[in-house]
Amino acid sequence: MAWIPCSGISRANNSKKKTKKWMIINQKQLDQIKPTSEKLECNSPLSVKDASKHGGSDNISALTFTFRELATAAKNFRAETLLGEGGFGRVYKGRLESTNQVVAIKQLNRNGLQGNREFLVEVLMLSLLHHPNLVNLIGYCADGDQRLLVYEYMPLGSLEDHLHDISPGMKRLDWNTRMKIAAGAAKGLEYLHDKASPPVIYRDLKCSNILLGEGYHPKLSDFGLAKLGPVGDHTHVSTRVMGTYGYCAPEYAMTGQLTIKSDVYSFGVVLLEIITGRKAIDSSKATGEQNLVAWASPLFKDRKKFSQMADPMLQGQYPPRGLYQALAIAAMCVQEQPNLRPVIADVVTALTYLASQKYDPDAQTAPGTPRRTKKEARLSSGRI
Ligand SMILES: Nc1ncnc2c1ncn2[C@@H]1O[C@H](COP(=O)(O)OP(=O)(O)OP(=O)(O)O)[C@@H](O)[C@H]1O
Ligand SMILES: [Mg+2]
Repeated sequence: MAWIPCSGISRANNSKKKTKKWMIINQKQLDQIKPTSEKLECNSPLSVKDASKHGGSDNISALTFTFRELATAAKNFRAETLLGEGGFGRVYKGRLESTNQVVAIKQLNRNGLQGNREFLVEVLMLSLLHHPNLVNLIGYCADGDQRLLVYEYMPLGSLEDHLHDISPGMKRLDWNTRMKIAAGAAKGLEYLHDKASPPVIYRDLKCSNILLGEGYHPKLSDFGLAKLGPVGDHTHVSTRVMGTYGYCAPEYAMTGQLTIKSDVYSFGVVLLEIITGRKAIDSSKATGEQNLVAWASPLFKDRKKFSQMADPMLQGQYPPRGLYQALAIAAMCVQEQPNLRPVIADVVTALTYLASQKYDPDAQTAPGTPRRTKKEARLSSGRI
């Protein structure tokens, strides 16, 4: 049986049957992936609801590349093309000779791979999942013992770069951009949870895995790689198994039980980082302020303290009601009890609404406050 990195209960399965359009991984599709020395078998199909809407198709769209092609694209993986390095290996910027397309090439650590079969199933899964808020897999290379993944290039780097590793001259993220990023990232997660069946649990949602395109359009990356991590390297296994410290839901950390609600917790941590500009874990801060959720929890209880939680980089330029509403959403997501956390679809509704309320720092406050809509009233009372 092919190994599909998904688990959990499918909400999608319980929803209305009429409009569903499923895309299912079958044996024929598995056999399309080349090169492979072994036949893959798949008894546990992954399907995607409304696949055609997001550009998916029944055929595997990922291209195959030789190692030489990718080495040429990335100038022999010279240091100048290095974009960054993560737990799976190094990421290089390259230009494909055949199409002139600029791409990001992830060269997976060779000692960390679980095997060709898993790599190929991962490629297959990534090439079936298509959404405007997921980084697109263009192709892959399985040449000799080399394993590389070729992704669309995201020109603005990661959310982490813009929140925490700000380089000189980089524009600070304003309130509207922050809400746009939060809403888009939530939509990507909603697709993984609600459109894929069984749901794909991300497991490693964090700022460095939210990449930004033109106009700060956010896309989730690494959503199919979670189980490709090394087995021999102890530190790394712990991040793979437990997610990344600071983002990991308490029940997952304690019992190892993974549900889609663990992703909602991690999303809440990311949203808190977006609002406060603080890191999920920051050992340079005083004890009591090092863990973002622990720092925020008592402040959530006192509305008067909300302005203290806004990122100082915003220099006060945010809508007070919007800040309150965004914090209310974050607070719900990081609740200790998984069943009290909202489903991601409701988070998407709330954040899409917030992102649509454009804040103009130069606008004068109009005399008289406009009447609140029902949705606003629900949001500010903490009910979504
Ligand atoms: N498609 C891409 N386009 C542009 N830059 C990218 C792309 N993918 C990754 N990067 C850059 O490479 C860096 C390393 O990415 P990578 O996913 O390997 O590690 P990470 O996200 O920091 O950690 P982890 O391995 O835990 O996911 C990212 O922080 C990002 O700056
Ligand atoms: Mg990553």
